[in-house]
Amino acid sequence: MAHRWKNELTWNDVTPKALYLNRRQWMMGAGALLGAGAIGGQARAEEGLEPNSFEEITSYNNFYEFGTGKTDPANYAHALTTAPWSIEIDGMVDNPGTYSFEDIVAGQTIEERIYRLRCVEAWSMVVPWSGFELADLLTRVGVQEGAQYVAFETLVRPEEMPGQRRQSLEWPYREGLRLDEAMNPLTILATGLYGEPMPNQNGAPIRLVVPWKYGFKSIKSIVRISLTDVEPQTTWNMQNSREYGFYSNVNPNVNHPRWSQASERRVGGGLFSSRIPTQMFNGYEDEVAHLYEGMDLSEYF
Ligand code: MTE
Repeated sequence: MAHRWKNELTWNDVTPKALYLNRRQWMMGAGALLGAGAIGGQARAEEGLEPNSFEEITSYNNFYEFGTGKTDPANYAHALTTAPWSIEIDGMVDNPGTYSFEDIVAGQTIEERIYRLRCVEAWSMVVPWSGFELADLLTRVGVQEGAQYVAFETLVRPEEMPGQRRQSLEWPYREGLRLDEAMNPLTILATGLYGEPMPNQNGAPIRLVVPWKYGFKSIKSIVRISLTDVEPQTTWNMQNSREYGFYSNVNPNVNHPRWSQASERRVGGGLFSSRIPTQMFNGYEDEVAHLYEGMDLSEYF
């Protein structure tokens, strides 16, 4: 489906891949990251610094199924079997069933989408995803009258996901969107990044990307999509409902109870770069503000 929206971001805005993969290190203030220029063509590398090792560069992600430690995903995610892969699509749909990954992507034109990604922890990046609009898949399976929400679940496979042998979160990882959010053309299912297949630690083989919401809404390694008429449970809301609401829209005017959301640091912006103001709906206000008209966003955060 031809997309109905014009992106102002280009490859010139993209966070260098090495910095994207290694952002934890950057967050920790390690200047070594600046050596990323050796790998990412657009990195603003500074002289005299050794590049990080490849291992460091791919060693920092949030993927609690592999553990809560920052190196856990890279240490364990390689063991995840991502083929064969299937997604169960159920609930209020005309064509429920278990669809293979190949079947799901077969009918889709995979296109590149360069999106801002704003993490709840107040840092941001610009990432080139490869994917297709979730709306196209939902239209294909046929959303029934009365469906109001879409619920997502990640794989549960403790044999391959050592973080799941502990109850650090209640498994499976769950996320949800209102149906109109899910049908918005900005919402994609991503199968790759930086022009490559999705790395396991980033949510292979298929994950959600919702660019106007905080990063945790972008659920990884999806195995189930359900159409429902009740608001789905979501992992971080179940974990701490005071801090994480169902909507989780990027909003500089609504602070996290423990920190401000008014500004952010752009990964790769330089170690001592000043913070930049966070934009309403992460800069996608024109595309999505209408979804929340009349809602008090400090109540529905
Ligand atoms: N999805 C699952 N299944 N498990 C997770 O722990 N972490 C979330 C989100 N999706 C997470 C997940 C969080 S907190 C963030 S910030 C993003 O994935 C990180 O995605 P990235 O590592 O590709 O940037």
